[in-house]
Amino acid sequence: MINFILNTESISTELPPGMPLLDFVRDNKKLKGTKEGCREGDCGACLILLGEYKRNKVFYKSVNSCLLPLGEVNGKQVVTIEGVNSNKLNLIQQAFVDEGASQCGFCTPGFILSLTAYFLNAIEIKENEAISSIDGNICRCTGYTSIIRAIQKLCKDFGLHIYSKNGLDPKPNRLKLLVDKKVLPEYFLDIPDRLHKISLNKKVDSKIPKKSPVFIAGGTDLYIQKPDELSTENLVFLSQKKKLKKIWRDKDRIFIGSMTTVEDIKSSSIIQKLFPETEKYFKLISSTPIRYRATVGGNIVNASPIGDLTIFLLALNTMVVLNDGKKQRELLLRDFYKGYKQLNKKRNDILEYIWFKKPNKNSFFNFEKVSRRKYLDIASVNSAILIQYDKGAVINIHLSAGGIAPIPLYLSKVRSYLLGKEINSEIVKEASRIAQSEISPISDVRGSNDYKRLLLRQLIYCHFVTLFPKEVNVDELL
Ligand SMILES: Cc1cc2nc3c(=O)[nH]c(=O)nc-3n(C[C@H](O)[C@H](O)[C@H](O)COP(=O)(O)OP(=O)(O)OC[C@H]3O[C@@H](n4cnc5c(N)ncnc54)[C@H](O)[C@@H]3O)c2cc1C
Ligand code: FES
Ligand code: FES
Repeated sequence: MINFILNTESISTELPPGMPLLDFVRDNKKLKGTKEGCREGDCGACLILLGEYKRNKVFYKSVNSCLLPLGEVNGKQVVTIEGVNSNKLNLIQQAFVDEGASQCGFCTPGFILSLTAYFLNAIEIKENEAISSIDGNICRCTGYTSIIRAIQKLCKDFGLHIYSKNGLDPKPNRLKLLVDKKVLPEYFLDIPDRLHKISLNKKVDSKIPKKSPVFIAGGTDLYIQKPDELSTENLVFLSQKKKLKKIWRDKDRIFIGSMTTVEDIKSSSIIQKLFPETEKYFKLISSTPIRYRATVGGNIVNASPIGDLTIFLLALNTMVVLNDGKKQRELLLRDFYKGYKQLNKKRNDILEYIWFKKPNKNSFFNFEKVSRRKYLDIASVNSAILIQYDKGAVINIHLSAGGIAPIPLYLSKVRSYLLGKEINSEIVKEASRIAQSEISPISDVRGSNDYKRLLLRQLIYCHFVTLFPKEVNVDELL
């Protein structure tokens, strides 16, 4: 039985846990404000808010309902556009009307909910971040200028309301504030207690079925690959394994649970401290709603040759830890891939966590991604490097690249060549030539074989020009 709250209504259902929430909301509950667009997580027309009770509070995220299994909302609140409506337009809806930010209106519910999530979660209201919060919403007819105008107006209004009423409280009771400002209806104030009661009765079935289990993490790859089969398969919701969702440090090792999401990693203080450019790198990965769901385990096991997290982690010489229910084993991430989508993994193996050594003193890291669109696009070619350089010599180096082989590739020949070398433009040119002998790109929609070879050369140059501007000269490279 799946128990949850849909807007204000308590729901108990025995429908298949793999059914996409979008179908339940539109077909079973006839809430047609949630739109069906691409069904691939790209357009944001189907966005809902997912509220989860934790530590006496409810935390809301914007999520694509087309990729969200019904079983995943057990014990939570789902908010559709109908759930934020009251008898007159709320502040966000009114700003859209005032600025002419909605023409056909098909995309508008998704935009309103993305912004509602932003204003619920942002500690400080910043215009550029409010605009980034709609990075998973596409509008085909109004155009973005008036939508951005509406957001700018809201930021001004919200900024004033928050700081003039509450002062600079770093943890304002945002839910109450949004209810007071009539952005959310009053029933939201009862939701924490109601969810708490549901969570007390929530039974967690963590047994793994013997017959053909399908492990589901964020579902952002699985629902694209086989949406119809998932309603009838033996789904194992890895989200029920709470211990898989954390990041921790133990001496000189950093551990990341496989259920940690891209957004969790992006906002982790441990990761940000090690990689100061984390925010910049991770903004290039999918969109806010996808990042809320997509996990590191899913990225690794999905084995896409262009998985961004996988490429990032290969350059950290990451280890993966698997468990088949009887015993744990660990291996290097680079040894996990045997061929296109072929893994060094048994059917029942769960990827539990990964770990890598904290980069040493004098280590430098860089990640690069080229895609046809800068944001919300998968890579044509991506690459990461970790290099330890001391007293004019390469002490250690790991270089990875995606989109240029059937697997996410660790470039071991380049590593062997660079170890012990002094970095200069000639050495970098030779390293890039050696890289060409390790790769086997194919021509596809993301670019021709030649173009991908050229991109990898440019990304290798870019790593060194970024990390060693004194040693490597752009003019000498070209
Ligand atoms: C709109 C959109 C944009 C995207 N943009 C990007 C992008 O920019 N960069 C990028 O790299 N990816 C992107 N992706 C792909 C996807 O979001 C990522 O690959 C994501 O990390 C997959 O994680 P998940 O938790 O959703 O995996 P799921 O779909 O849940 O699972 C993927 C596979 O891994 C298996 N699995 C998951 N976790 C485990 C585990 N712990 N143990 C064993 N097996 C497991 C599942 O059984 C399944 O076979 C995008 C996807 C969408 C829909
Ligand atoms: S229908 Fe397009 S993101 Fe869900
Ligand atoms: S208003 Fe028509 S798609 Fe956005």
